[in-house]
Amino acid sequence: MDQSAQRSKIHPASAEAILGAAARLCAGGLVAFPTETVYGLGADAYDDDAVAAVFAAKARPEFNPLIVHVPGIAEARALVRFNDRAEACAREFWPGPLTLVLPRAQGCKVSHLAGAGLDTLALRVPGHTLAHALLCAAGRPIVAPSANRSGAISPTEAGHVLASLGEAVDLILDGGRCPVGIESSVLDLSGDAPVLLRPGAVSGEAIEAVVGKLAQPDSLETGPRRSPGLLQNHYAPGLPLRLGAENPRAGEALLAFGHDVPDGFAASLNLSPAGDLREAAANLFAMLHQLDDSAHTGIAAMAVPEEGLGRAINDRLRRAAGAKP
Ligand code: TXA
Ligand code: MG
Repeated sequence: MDQSAQRSKIHPASAEAILGAAARLCAGGLVAFPTETVYGLGADAYDDDAVAAVFAAKARPEFNPLIVHVPGIAEARALVRFNDRAEACAREFWPGPLTLVLPRAQGCKVSHLAGAGLDTLALRVPGHTLAHALLCAAGRPIVAPSANRSGAISPTEAGHVLASLGEAVDLILDGGRCPVGIESSVLDLSGDAPVLLRPGAVSGEAIEAVVGKLAQPDSLETGPRRSPGLLQNHYAPGLPLRLGAENPRAGEALLAFGHDVPDGFAASLNLSPAGDLREAAANLFAMLHQLDDSAHTGIAAMAVPEEGLGRAINDRLRRAAGAKP
């Protein structure tokens, strides 16, 4: 795409631009928008395919769980289970640059890929009028990692997003420069002690004043915590998982990929019969959940090509199998 065609993706903030951006989100598109911290790469949090497109655009070699953005605490309450500390933090810091990690509510329809298969979700209510207006217009939760390619610096102007993700993004809402400029602090309130998983725009001191002493993420490697990356096999299903499946073992379920699928398994789900990695990513966690059934003795996963989103899929499967990533 030539440069002027890409430039035309930048839409200055207006009521019309917000409605257009919300419509794109609801149709499964990728929309970059400003928050008070950095620009986010937004997608419909309910839509596995749109979430897979976010991971593809960022070209990350792994699935990091994404932050779900909502316009207010009422919308947050519908998605996760609040506790006293969360109530206090929401009162004190929302809208604003604090992200809370809490257990998913029963029946929560947020994509399992967005949460990278975890039973918790990270939520935030951004304190930026344009972000707020977009979230209200979209009428659904929006995942939004920082709108840059993996490894690049976080974007604080619309032009940064264009330079990093111009090809991948459908539309960029331009709200000028982000006033805070560093990402939100990520606070895990899903366990017994509050843990600051990512230092950010709200200081640890300010958070401690509300929730009390913070536990150190480092000390948690042996504990049953939910911080991705700390535990090698965090994403493991209940059943044993083995990789590179070719021949079935008794009672085993198959997580297949592509058109050439071995038979003889007790059950089989195909990540993508057409061999499409984006479709496979969209299905990965939902299918792992489905196959993780006590009717089976284990799950065997077929090999996925080690390219593009395939690398992230293989990383997760290796972790789920308890192997080194
Ligand atoms: O300021 C921000 O937070 C920006 C703007 C766009 O809102 N967003 C952002 O999102 O930085 P992202 O996806 O790049 O960062 C997500 C962070 C990661 O460190 C991830 O590991 C953590 O949140 N996270 C998300 N879900 C989690 C979960 N269920 N448990 C633990 N950590 C989680
Ligand atoms: Mg980032």
